[in-house]
Amino acid sequence: MSTDAGTTTHSMAAPGAAAAVVARGIGKTFSSRSGEVTALDGIDLTVAAGEFVSLIGPSGCGKSTLLRLIGDLDQPSTGELRVFGKSAQAAREAQDYGIAFQQAGLLPWRDVAGNVELPLELHGVGKKERAARAAELLTLVGLEEFAGHFPHQLSGGMQQRVAIARALAERPSLLLMDEPFGALDEMTRERMQTELVRICAESGAAVVFVTHSIPEAVFLSERVVVMSPRPGRITAVVPVRIAGERTEGLREDSSFFAAVTAVREALHGSGAIPTGTARGVDLR
Ligand SMILES: Nc1ncnc2c1ncn2[C@@H]1O[C@H](COP(=O)(O)OP(=O)(O)OP(=O)(O)O)[C@@H](O)[C@H]1O
Ligand SMILES: [Mg+2]
Repeated sequence: MSTDAGTTTHSMAAPGAAAAVVARGIGKTFSSRSGEVTALDGIDLTVAAGEFVSLIGPSGCGKSTLLRLIGDLDQPSTGELRVFGKSAQAAREAQDYGIAFQQAGLLPWRDVAGNVELPLELHGVGKKERAARAAELLTLVGLEEFAGHFPHQLSGGMQQRVAIARALAERPSLLLMDEPFGALDEMTRERMQTELVRICAESGAAVVFVTHSIPEAVFLSERVVVMSPRPGRITAVVPVRIAGERTEGLREDSSFFAAVTAVREALHGSGAIPTGTARGVDLR
């Protein structure tokens, strides 16, 4: 865990606060007519409150499955999962989660503000308070002028920002994001990454972020969790320590490329940094 205070742009947990996620010996087996698939095996992972962790690995290694288990959208076959010291179900009931997936999943008949307000409406928050919160969130994601627009009037990147605003509506302490920028062009994607760093710093939420992009994982994360398929296991955890702000300039920095290389090597299994070691990539 990267607990060096002041070395990241993300807020850190208060001393003694429960970890956002503690997974111990998590396994998940799916049964189908063609047999059993072990999607996950022996997953041990702790995500601190306020920490940003990415999951990266080849297609089918169980990233989405792990995210779904954490979010109580499915149940593990083995092992124990705690979210802020509670069961995943209790965490869901306490509205600890904000969830954003690859498709923005906006309701086309609701305008932007209406989409952001939806989770609040479902939980009985009053009209005035909903409107105020939506306005605040749309400012946060830079869409304050688009509150009255409908999803089809927005670009893909703008739709994704609405989805992120919606995910933040109930002030979740844990954001689960599954390739949220996968469908975006490279320029928009980089802009969204910079915004996500800022939004997370402001909201203090912990994030578990699934991506196929090594530079994206390095730019965003305090730790990059590398997974291997069949069965899905964690093969390496690469800590990424950056002094100061994660801004655009970082992408041009030789230390950024060094971290990208470290993750790539971990992914390819050569020079992998074993799970649990303190050795990381120091970008200072
Ligand atoms: N509901 C399900 N029923 C049966 N098998 C499933 C189910 N969900 C996932 N699997 C299997 O579990 C494995 C992991 O799937 P998962 O979607 O978690 O992978 P992933 O790492 O997210 O892949 P990708 O990068 O392609 O999104 C795959 O072999 C998949 O076929
Ligand atoms: Mg997936």
